[in-house]
Amino acid sequence: MKKIFFSIIAISFFIAACSKKSSTGGGAVTPPTVIDTSMYTMMPFAVGASVNINLMQNNTKYNSVVKKEYNSITAENAMKFGALHPSANTYNWTDADYLINFAQLNNKRVHGHTLIWYTSLPSWVTNFVGDSAAWENLLKTHIQTVVTHFKGKVVSWDVVNEDFEDTGVPRNSIWRQKLGNDYVARCFQYANQADPDALLFYNDYGHEYSAAKRTAIIAMLNDFKARGIPVHGIGMQFHITVGQSDANISAAINTAASTGLKVHISELDIRLNASAVQGLAYTNAMGVQQAARYKYVVKTYKAIPASQQFGITTWNVGDADSWIPGWQGAPDWPLPFDANYLRKPAYAAIIDGAK
Ligand code: G3I
Repeated sequence: MKKIFFSIIAISFFIAACSKKSSTGGGAVTPPTVIDTSMYTMMPFAVGASVNINLMQNNTKYNSVVKKEYNSITAENAMKFGALHPSANTYNWTDADYLINFAQLNNKRVHGHTLIWYTSLPSWVTNFVGDSAAWENLLKTHIQTVVTHFKGKVVSWDVVNEDFEDTGVPRNSIWRQKLGNDYVARCFQYANQADPDALLFYNDYGHEYSAAKRTAIIAMLNDFKARGIPVHGIGMQFHITVGQSDANISAAINTAASTGLKVHISELDIRLNASAVQGLAYTNAMGVQQAARYKYVVKTYKAIPASQQFGITTWNVGDADSWIPGWQGAPDWPLPFDANYLRKPAYAAIIDGAK
């Protein structure tokens, strides 16, 4: 009975729609449009993902999700020192150029990651023998060759990555050992000389759990601003756990914004298995909890001045692509897409948080 009733209602709507169309001379009835959204079209600021070139080239689902959902991309590994500059006189642009080409064809912004980092260095650098002038030349040549190659194609760079310990002490990296404490400022100057239009970021993790670290980072950036060192943004990685508190998330985002610099949540992922329980299985309840954290991050970020919102980038796309399980030695599901690139609750939460 119910079925018949609904069928009659549906037929009447159909007839009404047809007569409306024909009365305006519209001809055939257009079926209702199925609205399938894209994340970036729903967001007031850029939303990105770091991408793996191998997956971009060999996994069509991955490639189409990147194309459809994001308007900013970062190379997960392809622009690191070792990937681009494997030996002293060799630069390998192939993978990074593939990404640039994809971005240009699909109208995506490219954020460069990362010019100088204490790790992922090729052995020719870690074994390099030379005085401070030779080290300076190595540093400057790498930065300027890379920035020049991508000039006009990469809008922004993580110039230096992870230069502080969690205690707030500057990291005793090979660069600091060879070049002194102020080498970081010079990296920014070298990058700026090569592309004065590029936005230059300092990128690090731990702002949300170490007040000492974020204080040291902010002090360095304020010092750079006072000295006229060209720095435009602060990248906060945000590899966080589902248990991370509202207070810590807010403190990180708002302290970064207090610099007046652009703020990039640059490597967001939210771990569900921080205690590294072997054999843990994903449940809907876990997905819902995770979504609430994603939403809080986005909502808090949305509240900083719009001119400082450089965007939010997740560290890869689907759960199966994440670096977390390998690093943690246990399963995890830290991203807004599952292993089949289906949207998890976190996906809608990101959009909701930005409303
Ligand atoms: O490409 C080689 C491959 O030829 C080799 O067979 C294989 C064997 O291990 O290694 C491959 O390289 C790995 C590379 O990822 C590409 O998959 C490296 O060993 C591995 O160390 C590297 O890990 C990356 C890591 O940075 C170190 O560069 C992760 O994918 C990447 O997600 C991670 O990203 C970092 C950010 O750059 C900075 N912030 C933290 C974040 C997570 O660690």
